Amino acid sequence: MLNGKNIVVGVTGGIAAYKAADVVSRLKKLGANVYVVMTEHSTKFIQPLTFQSLSQNYVVTDMFEDPKTWDVEHISLAKRADLFLIVPATANIVGKVAHGIADDMLTTTMMATEAPVFFALAMNTKMYENPIFQDNLKILGKYGYHLITPDSGRLACGDVGTGKLADPERIVDTVIQFFNRPRRLSGRRILVTAGPTREALDPVRYITNHSSGKMGYAIAEAAAAEGAEVILVSGPTALDIPNGVKRISVVSTQEMFDAVMANLDVDAVIKAAAPADYKAADYSDEKIKKTEGDLSIRFEKNPDILKRVGELKTHQVLVGFAAETHNVEAYAKKKLVEKNLDMIVANDVTAEGAGFNGDTNIVTIYDRSGDVFKYDCMEKTDVAKVILNKVIERLQK
Ligand code: PMT
Repeated sequence: MLNGKNIVVGVTGGIAAYKAADVVSRLKKLGANVYVVMTEHSTKFIQPLTFQSLSQNYVVTDMFEDPKTWDVEHISLAKRADLFLIVPATANIVGKVAHGIADDMLTTTMMATEAPVFFALAMNTKMYENPIFQDNLKILGKYGYHLITPDSGRLACGDVGTGKLADPERIVDTVIQFFNRPRRLSGRRILVTAGPTREALDPVRYITNHSSGKMGYAIAEAAAAEGAEVILVSGPTALDIPNGVKRISVVSTQEMFDAVMANLDVDAVIKAAAPADYKAADYSDEKIKKTEGDLSIRFEKNPDILKRVGELKTHQVLVGFAAETHNVEAYAKKKLVEKNLDMIVANDVTAEGAGFNGDTNIVTIYDRSGDVFKYDCMEKTDVAKVILNKVIERLQK
């Protein structure tokens, strides 16, 4: 049921640490590869050898010891993990993660991972109810961490109340459910474009724009997380390839055009890229030399990729973007019609918190049905989810 899943179990220092052994054993029996990282405090409650025997993997405790194998070096574990499970998760680990403290092997590995992280909470009732701790839980929620709530009952300290580690069976069920959750784009293919393009003037110079690719990469990542097969046609960016996404790297608008045309056998096309509309009409094979006078460069039009997709589209849901500095609504609606789009995501790239480069965007979505959806400033990762929800609604129609 968990065949081949790489699960990192973080054990922290609470009396319930011994129950983590049961969790590791269950995960292992279900076919997962389990890597245990222990905090120093947790080793006072249970020996690393127990987890080593159960997981059949080396157990890491000390960040500064010579790695026994690079497989368990913290960055390598962070990258390989499909899921992190902190069991038991004490008030201390919650507080540290909520405030970005990375001072041991477990917290540095957690800080470096993009995998989903689940905290199986366990602590004294009064600690659990402490408003500082409750605030820290809210911070974890804000950053997308998952919580496995504690049970109520008689705690090890003798108190009765909330704080008892969830039953190992419930913890493992949560993990199974996470991996088996219905993913709304399973079996769908989505083409996303992102980033700028570059148009060379000569072997050393080019024109481009401020696109970082963040908007398009966020969409690609969110689509992959929903189970889609994602092709990301990307101009030059400094971003890593999102998990589970196939990236085709291009430089010029013509290259982006060719890559998009070759990959139109998809269910949806989302064009977040900012391709250059013009290229130098007379590319110089040699470096253009500085002269006394001014320099004029003639530009000619690049193909309009989105317009062409709009002409060719059969069944695909087609989403365009409109990056505008003025008359946002009018220009966006014009593009929606002229390019035969299903929806257009308009952003005023002069607004604070919107457009190029930053981590946030402010968008309005105009649907071809006439519906308009206006959003406040959001993280680009959340904008991506909003756009995908609209695409999914159309695909399900
Ligand atoms: O990459 P980031 O730094 O995260 O910034 C995000 C963004 C501002 C680039 C993004 O939110 C955005 O607005 N992308 C569209 C940029 C753009 O080129 O807008 P446009 O209004 O000029 O073009 C309209 C649409 O036609 C876009 O979907 C564009 O991808 C497409 N187009 C444009 C020119 C061209 N030759 N071919 C195209 O397909």
